[in-house]
Amino acid sequence: MAEIGKDVGYARRLLEEGELVAIPTETVYGLAGNALDSSSIAKIFSTKNRPEFDPLIVHVADIEHAQNYVEEIPAKAKLLADHFWPGPLTLLLKRKSSIPDLVTSGLDTVGIRCPDHVLTRELLSSLPFPLAAPSANPFGYVSPTLPQHVNEQLGNKIKYILDGGACTIGIESTIVGFEGEEAIIYRLGGLSAEKIESLIGKVKIETHSSSNPKAPGQMKSHYAPSKKVILGNLKELLYQQQGKKFGILSFRSNLQLPYQIILSPSGQVEEAAQNLFAALREFDKMPVEHVIAELVPDVGIGRAINDRLRRAAAVEEGTRR
Ligand code: TXA
Ligand code: MG
Repeated sequence: MAEIGKDVGYARRLLEEGELVAIPTETVYGLAGNALDSSSIAKIFSTKNRPEFDPLIVHVADIEHAQNYVEEIPAKAKLLADHFWPGPLTLLLKRKSSIPDLVTSGLDTVGIRCPDHVLTRELLSSLPFPLAAPSANPFGYVSPTLPQHVNEQLGNKIKYILDGGACTIGIESTIVGFEGEEAIIYRLGGLSAEKIESLIGKVKIETHSSSNPKAPGQMKSHYAPSKKVILGNLKELLYQQQGKKFGILSFRSNLQLPYQIILSPSGQVEEAAQNLFAALREFDKMPVEHVIAELVPDVGIGRAINDRLRRAAAVEEGTRR
């Protein structure tokens, strides 16, 4: 198992030696390595069992550092970064050649973000290179929101997990790219579309792509737990479950049945986002065959939650891990 601790200096030394370290962010835990070093990047792909066509996000301390790795920052991107960094927003920008091909899977853009977590910002400020970090889970599985989640799955492959407690947002960053002057959301996430639009006006949302996805997070089934998730109206689904052992994932209602997890008893989508991934992991440990679940209100971060629930429910039999 990996050591879990708050020693930023030790994390820095490991990263400087080309090792990987799990780092906390406000969204989910990341599996970090030196973004300028191809052998560290190769370790990230192999540790996660991640296909090399799936590019990594590069994490920087601030917008000045981002400028070292991208050719240009379009006006709308600059506006977004000025307002929402540090925070749950990844910008797809034209990369400089200092970013290795492996990081971007050969694409000419790099996903870049400035995470909002005190320990990770301290770590980034102390390092002479940026950190490439995908979510710290095996490819295709639910992202980790606690150090223990990382340890359970990757603990035998890495030395150190920087302990930043529970992630305050709990769902991955929103990914925004640009076509000319137009901003496009490729992944719904911790920063709501409403907040983005309130700053730069209407944006296109393109979170589905059947062939050649821009972001593999766009794949129909992704972010999936081991147990089958069935989405719908809970009362109707309950009716069909006679004789089966099942879990229940509700937004706020309490059905007074065993194996139920309520995402937010007070009905807040932000609280539901914080609890979502831990809940999906908990069902994997319960003696249930599958999970029945309902969507949450489709507003703010609720849209990102619904996106993840739909992808978790879209896994084909036989491909579940
Ligand atoms: O909140 C987050 O974004 C977390 C934390 C650790 O920062 N990271 C994260 O990374 O979710 P990952 O690798 O699990 O998901 C990154 C997504 C992938 O779907 C990838 O395809 C997409 O970002 N991506 C990265 N660079 C891209 C690029 N240049 N063009 C299109 N998509 C890109
Ligand atoms: Mg991921």
